[in-house]
Amino acid sequence: MASPIIYKAAAQTSVGLIVAMGLDRAIGERGTMPWYLPDDLKHFKAKTLNSCVIMGRRTFESIGRPLPQRRNIVITSSAELRSQYPQLEFASSLNAALELARGAQPCPAVTAGETEGESEVEVREYSKIMIIGGAGLFAEVAPIADVLELTEIRARFPNADTFFPLVDMTKIGTTISFDPPMLEGRASYYVCQAKQPEGFAQVVPSLDLTKESLLDSSLHEIADDELLDKVVSGGNDGRVGEALCYRYVTITRS
Ligand SMILES: NC(=O)c1ccc[n+]([C@@H]2O[C@H](COP(=O)([O-])OP(=O)(O)OC[C@H]3O[C@@H](n4cnc5c(N)ncnc54)[C@H](OP(=O)(O)O)[C@@H]3O)[C@@H](O)[C@H]2O)c1
Repeated sequence: MASPIIYKAAAQTSVGLIVAMGLDRAIGERGTMPWYLPDDLKHFKAKTLNSCVIMGRRTFESIGRPLPQRRNIVITSSAELRSQYPQLEFASSLNAALELARGAQPCPAVTAGETEGESEVEVREYSKIMIIGGAGLFAEVAPIADVLELTEIRARFPNADTFFPLVDMTKIGTTISFDPPMLEGRASYYVCQAKQPEGFAQVVPSLDLTKESLLDSSLHEIADDELLDKVVSGGNDGRVGEALCYRYVTITRS
């Protein structure tokens, strides 16, 4: 049996934000994500593993369980969740959550819930605090975050009901990197061909993206025509059911 893990904050911690969004800043639809992007789920895991994740109550409900191998703090006023999930920690505001995440007190829920019995306890220090949504928390934390991990999905989601706030990071001094990298000044993208959820609708946008993203307009070049052909596979209204075009963007406060 794996050793129980206790998470505690390192002396220095950074605050990051991680989000996947459409070009119109869409992040959610009917309590879940508007798309299914398995590679992005792996990316999310890699970026948050062994960190402390902070989320709003609805985001927690959309995930449906505490994220393993991470300290989990949920912001809510609900007392109900507290009794249901002893592995979670709770806070009533972002500041209270950050205080908890940065504090010297190790993760008490993991201690209480998993250290019974013979197995030795493993203590892991984290230096990253990651805000994982939803919209209100993103708005509060974006102006102070040290790093923003964005998955930009190059499509619109007309049925979306939750949106990333308007934040112009370029005004506060940043360095930006792309995965896949820019090629000869043009944006490049990955293509995902996973089966999308029921009710999925995306609209591959017109080519003027300049008003839609966090990034400087000079960075908005179109994807290769060949690649776009794979995404726009049919339909007379520009909607497709199978493929998504996306890239990872890291914005670091400089
Ligand atoms: N694409 C992405 O990367 C991404 C990431 C995260 C979420 N999402 C999507 O976004 C949707 C959920 O996000 P959401 O914005 O609707 O909700 P949310 O922020 O996850 O949850 C809202 C609830 O959290 C609590 N809360 C949040 N901020 C608070 C604050 N500053 N002070 C006090 N309480 C606070 C309140 O809980 P109580 O009402 O219990 O008091 C509030 O009702 C879902 O569709 C989800 O799938 C997408």
